[in-house]
Amino acid sequence: MNVEHAQNHTENHAIYSAGYQCPSNIALVKYWGKKSGGVQLPANPSISWSLGDLYASTVVHALPRENDQAFVFTLGGVSKASFEPKIASFLTKIASDCPWLIDFTLHIDSQNNFPHGTGIASSAAGFGALGLCLAHIEQLIHGAPALDGRVNNMDFWQRSSYLSRIGSGSACRSMFDKPAVWGLSEAVNGSSDLFAVPLDGEIHPDLQGWKDVVLIVDDGEKSVSSTDGHALLEAHPYAGARFGQAQKNLGLLVEAMRSGDVQRFIAIVESEALQLHSMMMTSLPYYLLMRPNTLAIIEKIWQFRESSGLPLCFTLDAGANVHLLYDGKIDKTLMNFVNTTLLPYCKNGQYLCSDTGKRPAAIV
Ligand code: DP6
Repeated sequence: MNVEHAQNHTENHAIYSAGYQCPSNIALVKYWGKKSGGVQLPANPSISWSLGDLYASTVVHALPRENDQAFVFTLGGVSKASFEPKIASFLTKIASDCPWLIDFTLHIDSQNNFPHGTGIASSAAGFGALGLCLAHIEQLIHGAPALDGRVNNMDFWQRSSYLSRIGSGSACRSMFDKPAVWGLSEAVNGSSDLFAVPLDGEIHPDLQGWKDVVLIVDDGEKSVSSTDGHALLEAHPYAGARFGQAQKNLGLLVEAMRSGDVQRFIAIVESEALQLHSMMMTSLPYYLLMRPNTLAIIEKIWQFRESSGLPLCFTLDAGANVHLLYDGKIDKTLMNFVNTTLLPYCKNGQYLCSDTGKRPAAIV
C-alpha cells in the first residue's frame, strides 16, 4: 500500500519497534457528529472511561522501506486484507504529520483480547494502540527518550491521542486512567478538539472504581457503521440541538463526578445513551440499532435499580449491546443480578466484564 509522499523526508536505515496494549473505552457523554472541515474533529465534546480489560495489543516494527510498501498488516499473525483500507487511509491522513513514515515499511501486528464482532469498540482499542506505537517510534527516530520529550509541542500521550484520533475519533480517549475528555469544553482545562485530555481535578471516590458488564445482545455486523452514522448528522434536523445538549451534559457530568452526585451522573449517562439512539432514529435515512433484548435489558436494569437503590446504570454505544455500569463495591450482588436476570437476554449467554480507568501499557 502506498502512502502519499511527504516532503523533506530523511534517509534512515535503522529498525525501530514499539508495542502497546491499549484499552477500549466507553463514552459517558457521546461523540456523535463531526465538524465540517478539519480531519476528524468532534462536533461536541465527549467523555469516557477506559475499559482496561478489553484491549488491543499491537506491535509495530518500522523497517527501511521495502518495495514502496507503506505497511504490512496481520491480525494475530494472520493477514487480514479487510483491515487494510482503513489503515492505508489512516497512514495517508497522517503522512504530513509524520514525514518520517515515507522511509519505512510498518509491520503491524494487532489482536484484541475480546471477540471481533461483539460490538465492542475495537477501532478505539486498535487505533489507540497503533497511535501509541507510532508516537513511540517517532520519538525513537527523533532520538528523544521514549515517553519523554515533545513532538509538535505535544507530550507523548497527547501525541498518541492526536494520531489515534485521525484513525478513529473515539480512539483518542483510550490513553488515560482518569476519565478522558475529547473536544473543546469550558468545563475542562486544556480540552482540545485535536486530542483527548485526562479530566483535571479530583474525582469523588463514589465515582471511581466503577465497572462495566457488556451484555452482548447482537454480535453481527451493524447495519450502519459509526462513520456513516456520524455523516448523517451533517443534514440532521436536530443536530444543532444535540450538540448544544452534549456540551451542557458534559459540564453537568463533570460537576457530578467531582462532587459525587451519583444520581445526577446516572441521569446524564442514561439520557446520553438514549439521545445517541434518538439521533439514529431521526436521521435521514433513519435506522435502529437497538434490538428487542436491548430494551428488555434496560427495563430490567431500571427495575433492579428501583428495588435495590444500588449505584448502577446503563449506557449504549452505536450498537445493540448494553453496557451496565456499576460501582465496583457492589460487584457480587451485581453479578448475581446479571446471571439470574439478564443472561437470558444475551446472545448465547455472552457478556464481557471490565474494570474502568486503566491506562495503556508498553509491551515491547
Ligand atoms: C457511538 O470513533 O467509532 O461510540 O471517528 O468515524 O471512527 P469514527 O467513529 P467512532 O464513533 C464512536 C461513536 C460512539 C460514541 C463515542 O464513543 O463517543
